[in-house]
Amino acid sequence: MKNELVIVIDFGGQYNQLVARRVRECNVYCEIYSYKIDIEKIKEMNPKGIILTGGPNSCYESGAPTYTKELFELGVPVLGLCYGAQLMSHVLGGEVKAAPVREYGKTEVIIDKPQSKIFENISTPTICWMSHFDYIAQTAPGFEISAHTADCPVAAAENVEKDLYAIQFHPEVLHTAEGTKMINNFVKNVCKCAGDWKMSAFVEETIQAIREKVGDGKVLCALSGGVDSSVAAVMLSKAIGSQLTCVFVDHGLLRKNEGDEVEAVFGPEGEYDLNFIRVNAQQRFYDKLAGVTEPEKKRKIIGEEFIRVFEEEAKKIGTVDFLVQGTIYPDVVESGLGGESAVIKSHHNVGGLPDYVDFKEIIEPLRDLFKDEVRKAGLEMGIPEYLVFRQPFPGPGLGVRIIGEVTEEKVRIVQDADAIYREEITNAGMDRSIGQYFAGLTNMRSVGVMGDERTYDYAVALRAVNTVDFMTAEAAEIPFEVLQKVMSRIINEVKGVNRVFYDLTSKPPGTIEFE
Ligand code: XMP
Repeated sequence: MKNELVIVIDFGGQYNQLVARRVRECNVYCEIYSYKIDIEKIKEMNPKGIILTGGPNSCYESGAPTYTKELFELGVPVLGLCYGAQLMSHVLGGEVKAAPVREYGKTEVIIDKPQSKIFENISTPTICWMSHFDYIAQTAPGFEISAHTADCPVAAAENVEKDLYAIQFHPEVLHTAEGTKMINNFVKNVCKCAGDWKMSAFVEETIQAIREKVGDGKVLCALSGGVDSSVAAVMLSKAIGSQLTCVFVDHGLLRKNEGDEVEAVFGPEGEYDLNFIRVNAQQRFYDKLAGVTEPEKKRKIIGEEFIRVFEEEAKKIGTVDFLVQGTIYPDVVESGLGGESAVIKSHHNVGGLPDYVDFKEIIEPLRDLFKDEVRKAGLEMGIPEYLVFRQPFPGPGLGVRIIGEVTEEKVRIVQDADAIYREEITNAGMDRSIGQYFAGLTNMRSVGVMGDERTYDYAVALRAVNTVDFMTAEAAEIPFEVLQKVMSRIINEVKGVNRVFYDLTSKPPGTIEFE
């Protein structure tokens, strides 16, 4: 058992993992549980604090997620956020109803109680992220209002004696300017956590948990060479050594020369001993993808073929008990498995395997982490920086960077264009400052003129985004001269391209990849 644990109780809101992540940023270990968790289990875990998340419901409606009043009588500090704040008020005898004015977006919050433990060193007014249609019309007995907005009389309330805190806005979202400080104040000032948990502890505990789970079983790891699966593979190798076999499928949708680069690092000549097997399955994937244009169908085909290849490898190795994947949290939430959020894209293989696969279980050691946390874990394990800070690359690879049908020729075009783009971004010294950047291939062909000849070629789209957690992103500002250089090199050096676009779309409404 962890000596300093904060529990997040999930009521189905969008930002649940962000809450956990902010707590971890305060160096306090944090776990998320569904609101269906039994109170006895919570007692057993003996948490230092409990945070109730937001959620899409109205707490006064029948059937809405709720929690027993006993939770607030355990003597453990509780912080309710948005729905959590309303639920706390409702359960303890306050009044929650539809707000006359809904609040959404950045809102000025006036702190009425600057001496509140939660608002220590917070300015007033302070900008906070609001997103609610219900409000606390009447606080529960024993509660004092500690903040309000122009439209919301109870932006925050507290019962200091019982260590109960209700906050109507979302401190976990970066738009709340001083939100991280507020969460830090809760875990340190109210819960009295020392804050000595570190990523190294996560790594050690995960390695230990893997060892216990796997026993003397055999493990097969899906290694793509990307940051996530590399960190997962090294973690597994530290946990169970030679019981691990890493299979690297070259599906022919990798970046230029990537297959050889991955082999150089993780293969027998490299610095790790991962029982590395490379499968050259390029043609299989191209054949399966011929004529397919629909993005979800492409993802499914690539995902399934991937599994098939693994299955074949597994059979060659003998019995395999576990399959490892480097799934990280944004993959989970965008596949519709992270609470109430809608399916945006089905990231391949997330959330289980098709029936015909005969592995006992899947291991996803990074499932709760955001990308930057995965990188921290990688550095903790001594993985070199050049690997840890590698560009993220989607599992279905160039398959989701080529709009429309995938063909060998299109793969070659996008690989060459992307290699030039990456080279020039590195030359401009921007390779570490941009979150993710790559070239994609539009399905558009247009007329151009080259030399004295008419051309009818493809348009390449350049993408570069800045993002903290890959859930939201903004187009990166790249100096025009750099873009021009990339454009002229691509058009001159890559056969089949006569136009280059720069994609300015943010996420939302766009996504980072093109499909
Ligand atoms: P999107 O395009 O969803 O990308 O904004 C967010 C992050 O996820 C990566 N991505 C994927 N990763 N399978 C993956 O393993 C996929 O199907 C997939 N689609 C997007 C993307 O590269 C970005 O880092």
